[in-house]
Amino acid sequence: MKYGYFDNENREYVITRPDVPAPWTNYLGTEKFCTVISHNAGGYSFYNSPEYNRVTKFRPNATFDRPGHYVYLRDDETGDYWSISWQPVAKSLDEATYEVRHGLSYSKFKCDYNGIVATKTLFVPVGEDAEVWDVVIKNTSAQPRTISAFSFVEFSFSHIQSDNQNHQMSLYSAGTEYKDGVIEYDLYYNTNDFEGFYYLASTFDPDSYDGQRDSFLGLYRDESNPLAVEQGKCFNTAQTCYNHCGSLHKQFVLQPGEEVRFAYILGIGKGLGAKLRTKYQNVAEIDAAFAGIKAHWDERCAKFQVKSPNAGLDTMINAWTLYQAETCVVWSRFASFIEVGGRTGLGYRDTAQDAISVPHSNPRMTRKRLVDLLRGQVKAGYGLHLFDPDWFDPEKADVKPSKSPTVVPTPSDEDKIHGIEDTCSDDHLWLVPTICNYVQETGEETFLDESIPYADGGVATVYEHMKAALDFSAEYVGQTGICKGLRADWNDCLNLGGGESAMVSFLHFWALQSFVELAKYRGEQADVDKYTLMAEGVRKACENHLWDDEGGWYIRGLTKDGDKIGTAQQAEGRVHLESNTLAVLSGAVSQERGEKAMDAVDENLYSEYGLHLNSPSFATPNDDIGFVTRVYQGVKENGAIFSHPNPWAWVAETKLGRGDRAMKFYDALNPYNQNDMIEKRIAEPYSYVQFIMGRDHQDHGRANHPWLTGTSGWAYYAVTNFILGVRTGFAGLEIDPCVPTNWPGFEVTRQWRGATYNIKVENPNGVSKGVKSITVNGGAIEGNVVPVQAEGSINEVVVVLG
Ligand code: GLC
Repeated sequence: MKYGYFDNENREYVITRPDVPAPWTNYLGTEKFCTVISHNAGGYSFYNSPEYNRVTKFRPNATFDRPGHYVYLRDDETGDYWSISWQPVAKSLDEATYEVRHGLSYSKFKCDYNGIVATKTLFVPVGEDAEVWDVVIKNTSAQPRTISAFSFVEFSFSHIQSDNQNHQMSLYSAGTEYKDGVIEYDLYYNTNDFEGFYYLASTFDPDSYDGQRDSFLGLYRDESNPLAVEQGKCFNTAQTCYNHCGSLHKQFVLQPGEEVRFAYILGIGKGLGAKLRTKYQNVAEIDAAFAGIKAHWDERCAKFQVKSPNAGLDTMINAWTLYQAETCVVWSRFASFIEVGGRTGLGYRDTAQDAISVPHSNPRMTRKRLVDLLRGQVKAGYGLHLFDPDWFDPEKADVKPSKSPTVVPTPSDEDKIHGIEDTCSDDHLWLVPTICNYVQETGEETFLDESIPYADGGVATVYEHMKAALDFSAEYVGQTGICKGLRADWNDCLNLGGGESAMVSFLHFWALQSFVELAKYRGEQADVDKYTLMAEGVRKACENHLWDDEGGWYIRGLTKDGDKIGTAQQAEGRVHLESNTLAVLSGAVSQERGEKAMDAVDENLYSEYGLHLNSPSFATPNDDIGFVTRVYQGVKENGAIFSHPNPWAWVAETKLGRGDRAMKFYDALNPYNQNDMIEKRIAEPYSYVQFIMGRDHQDHGRANHPWLTGTSGWAYYAVTNFILGVRTGFAGLEIDPCVPTNWPGFEVTRQWRGATYNIKVENPNGVSKGVKSITVNGGAIEGNVVPVQAEGSINEVVVVLG
């Protein structure tokens, strides 16, 4: 079953039936002001942190995605009313037609009902801390019509953590005020902080308004039938205390064919409502702001565009997967309809991995994240698992909790510096390849020499920070020399409590490879020697202790008592995705073992929806293995199709040269390919999800937790760098595709360090891998590395595989 389609030209997903089986969401905002919005216009806004500066309310975990950012329309002759988004009024789909276009950083709602066609486009202009609602109402009937429009948002009392506090404080410490088309919501009596005021403004001069939620909605009513809308005007309420909303109402008389356009603006900052109201009274300003959002994404997407025989891959790579990856980098893991803002802070390993995917499209934010993470690393080398980057930002040093309860409190050292038992074994390691990738992309080699403090004091260069990360993992190994599985080894549910993790050792090996390449490039011979030797030790330990000969795959690890996890002998948790994929991806293992291991992955973990994390799932609780054995079978880390490591398998197959297999795995997970089976998938088809129910669960195929997953960054990185094989290196642009044998070729346009490379790959002999020849602007080059070309140049690169 289908609910919509991809409009590639506009980079939009168009929902043609609003009765989707779950809210399908989008993200508005590119910097500080963010709204997570559903196709029903349900959702919430926040400023910087969804935990602290929560601008509008949302009630998660309910059967409705409410409240939201709504516009109601009312026919003032008949009293009939509806909303431009299907919910909350929800007219019958027999009488009204709805369309929603989720685009990159905007959502457009359209409703055609009873001779009135209305659209509402929500977006956050680049550089503004406000959301613009561009509304157009058109009379398509043959009679003049009198139509009233009402906005509705429910203001939130800033802090989401406790509903109790949120609710109570608003009762006595918040209030609304109305003046000249602006409802201003004041969070703290007598505070003048920027974050202390939210507002809703309209570009029209309202006929009536409500700042008090309960007046607008009326007693024993809800968003589907507000009293104000029913009666045709608001109650003109605005005062201190109780619950608060933003409703501005205006009546319009529209002749046949006539339309009216106006805007609502939802934002933050005292007095800014009046300013933006004036600005956007000029509709050219609305158009310019919207064009700004389009240009923002045009520029980012243009960095890498592909035209291949796989339409789903093109749609996802050219827009959606990049967009999702950027969303994860910018908003980290804390705001969605699942993660509703209950925590502030960066997940160390999540951010370190996300940041590998977008240095080309968002170098500024990638760099900021790298600095955040380096500041969150301790001298011993590991990273603070979850931390607020503001803690370590010198510019925020003067922010004291006493100033306003809306700012992040300064943590005590104890909070900041957790001990080893509280340390995850992998967090810091992802940072190493991510930093190398950033430098290769930007050429900013001086970054490596920049001094950055450690979280627990002391300063070191970025290059030294990287060494500290590698040294920590070399030190914290178990009896066999395999890295210890500390609090978690990426898999939060595997709690080895001092056991050993195959995944981490392979990851260590991968990080060492990146680092040695970097050290060579910098001419740091002593480091090349030291870390090459370290890598060799890791490789030997892995080969000697992790290969399960009977099964023909790599085990997942060892418990603290030395019992192996993931052998052919075991009935549960026999084959695991993480160890086998990273074994190959890292380059630590031979072609022969690599092929066997990935064959085992295909045989045991493959399903039409993607690769399972482990199989069979665990059915017997075992605390030496961890919480994974207590999660229901087929769910999350216990035998679900856990999306994040799926791209590791695609990369692994490209390393083995098996392009058909890589694409088989890619296609299975690609949400695009499930667009016509939404009755199974449930979640949106333009976003990767955290996990899909595995075959040991009755809802096998159901996708859960969209948007905030490391899958997007990894999927993007795997496809662009390894399947299409266009990747940056220290010496130039490496071209090393690994594609299905039935691809006759493909084209990539890559912008890199100011030059454009139009790359045409031909595959006359139907191979997967192997570059036979390359010409750059007509001249043949040796090898497969295209040298860096002059800034501003446009270069034609022809690659022949064979
Ligand atoms: C989720 C978490 C991530 C963790 C992974 C596996 O993706 O965000 O931190 O590594 O699950 O447990």
